[in-house]
Order: sequence, then structure tokens, then C-alpha cells
Amino acid sequence: MPLPPTAELWSSIPVPAFLIETTGKTLSANPAAEEFMNASIKTLVGQPLFDRLAVDAPLEDAFARMNDGHSALFINDVEVGTGDRPPVLCNIQASLLADTPGQILLLIAPREFADRLGRTQGHTKSVRSAIGMADMLAHEIKNPLAGITGAAQLLAMSLEADDQELTDLIVAETRRIVKLLEQVEQFGHLRAPDRKPVNIHDVLDRARRSAQLGFASNMRIIEEFDPSLPPVHADADQLTQVFLNLLKNAAEAAGGKSGTIRIRSFYDLTLRLRRENTSRALPVQVEITDDGTGIPEAILDDIFDPFVSGRENGTGLGLALVSRIVADHEGWIGVESQPGRTSFRIALPKASETKTPLGKDR
Ligand SMILES: Nc1ncnc2c1ncn2[C@@H]1O[C@H](COP(=O)(O)OP(=O)(O)OP(=O)(O)O)[C@@H](O)[C@H]1O
Ligand SMILES: [Mg+2]
Repeated sequence: MPLPPTAELWSSIPVPAFLIETTGKTLSANPAAEEFMNASIKTLVGQPLFDRLAVDAPLEDAFARMNDGHSALFINDVEVGTGDRPPVLCNIQASLLADTPGQILLLIAPREFADRLGRTQGHTKSVRSAIGMADMLAHEIKNPLAGITGAAQLLAMSLEADDQELTDLIVAETRRIVKLLEQVEQFGHLRAPDRKPVNIHDVLDRARRSAQLGFASNMRIIEEFDPSLPPVHADADQLTQVFLNLLKNAAEAAGGKSGTIRIRSFYDLTLRLRRENTSRALPVQVEITDDGTGIPEAILDDIFDPFVSGRENGTGLGLALVSRIVADHEGWIGVESQPGRTSFRIALPKASETKTPLGKDR
């Protein structure tokens, strides 16, 4: 079969693609790149690309190394900003043209999942202070609540049956608040993870069995595991809590009907987490997907924040705890949701994974 013409190939590349000189001067850009830059090809060509494109990685060094015989470059999870638009996390791939020395093909692929990662991890600090406050309040409120419950119970003894309904209500409602406060306290007292090599499938199995005996008893749970996955570096109890919270949300999203939850594990070497000057592979992936209502649009951007809930009796702490545990494990969590399909993906480092200096990623 004959190859399609180069122009057609060029404009069909679905991610922003640039042809540049090693100095950074733009020679060409495909339509996706024009859209990404919000600029036409005419204004781009001949200009230094990095005047308009802010890339949070030492690309010049990397290009120089490419010229020295490294023909391809992969950098994941870099912030790329253009004009007024806030930076988005992208994966960057660059390659020296085989037959034209000094020219580089540069592909910039925005990462949808990684985009959410930025937000999740960025919130960790404010999450901690909000939780610190709530924890203190929880402690203060619990004591008088015990007094109120006791008083209501005493009062009930001298009341007619009809009026006892009211004291029962006081007791029931205060119990509910105490339970909520205990959850806040549990959150506040989360200890640092005790990390060891852990078989992720053992953890997933434990969470699934426990879910299926309780809140997910009417759900169909399908497991699709990649048995060759290496152990992760994790606190098994805390990870179990993570998956229980995700399974619980998934079961609740079925709205009392019998839905399906799919738990999938797989290996993905391309996902790297960059922090300061190191980058770390997070190759072990777990995806929990349900076919429920989907996350309400209004809260989708904030679901990892504490006290954000779309349910009447929800505390909004489930996913905040999940996000905090994942961050403590130097992992990553992302979410995609639409009615009928909600998918949480967690990526974790493998047990022996070490940090590599930035720019040396392969
Ligand atoms: N799988 C899902 N499908 C649809 N909506 C979801 C899903 N997971 C989370 N949500 C939405 O995100 C909100 C926040 O979830 P989170 O687990 O943090 O709190 P919660 O479930 O409301 O309370 P808690 O977990 O403390 O019982 C939920 O109230 C729900 O609206
Ligand atoms: Mg929940």
C-alpha cells in the first residue's frame, strides 16, 4: 500500500506537533499545534518556539544532548503554558529527524488524567490545615454531645411514650453527629504509611471481599488483574481503605440498583510523577470503574477536597482520605466521569523503584 503524502500525515497527528531547529526556531506546526498555541502557522514559523511556550523542564540541555547522539527524548508530566492559559501537564516526546541534521520533531501531548493530578496534589497542604481545624473542633464538640445524649436519655425516663419520640430523635441525631466527628478524627489522626512490598492483588481482593459482604452485596464486581504486576511499595491497611472507599462510592452511585464495578490492574511505564528535580515512575495501575450515575458536574473539580459531597448523608471525607493516602504513597489519582461511567485510576510506584534525576527519563 502506498504511504499517504507527508502533509496528510502531518495534519493527522492528533497531538500538537512542531518541527523546530535545535535552537528552538519553529519551522512548522501541525493544526493541533496551532490550536494548542492559539496561533496560526504564519505567526509561529520563523519565531523562537519557547518565547510563546513555557515548558517547565530544561529542554535546551536535553536538545543539546540529543545532538550529541541521543536521538530521542521522552519527558512526562511537564507543565506547559501558552499565552494566558494556565499551564497544563503534558508528556513531551522529541526526536532528531533521521535525514535532516539539526531539526527536531517535538510532540506535546496534554495529559487529561495528569491534569487532575496537579489539582489533587496541590491541595494537599490546604487539606491538611482544613482537617487540622476540623479535628480540633470534632474533639471539642464530642464531649458536650455525650452530655446531651445522656440528658436526653434521662429525660426520656419521665416522659410519655409520644414525647419519647422526640428524645429518641435527639439521641439518634447526636449519635449520627458523633459518628461523623469520629470520621473527621480518623482523618486527622492518619499516621504516616508503614510501607513494605505489597502484592496489590491481595489488597484488592481483601477490599472486594469485604465490600461484597457489606455495602456492595448487590453489586457485580469483575476483576481483571494482570498477574505479572510487581509488588508496590505501600501500607497494605491504608491501601485497603483507599479501595474500600472507592468501592463504596461506586456502590452508592448505583442508587440501590444492582450495578457493575470493574477492578482492573495493569502496567504502564509511561506514567511518571515529577517533583522538584526528580521524576519517578508509577507503573502499577489500578482502575475502578462503575456504571452508576456519574459524579455531579458541579463538584467534579473538587471531589478530592474534604467535605465535598454530592450525597445527602455523605461527609465528603471518603475521597479526601483516598487522595491523602495516595499522596503519602507518592502515587497519583485521577478521575473521569460521565453518567453511566465513572473511573478512578490510581498509579503507584513499584517496591524497588528509585527516583531518577529529571531529564534522564526514558
Ligand atoms: N463512583 C462515583 N460515582 C458517582 N459519584 C461519585 C463517585 N465517587 C464519588 N462521587 C461523588 O463524590 C462525592 C464525594 O465522595 P466522598 O467519598 O469524598 O464523600 P461521600 O461519599 O459523600 O461521603 P463518605 O465517603 O464520607 O460517606 C460523593 O458524595 C459523590 O457525589
Ligand atoms: Mg464516599
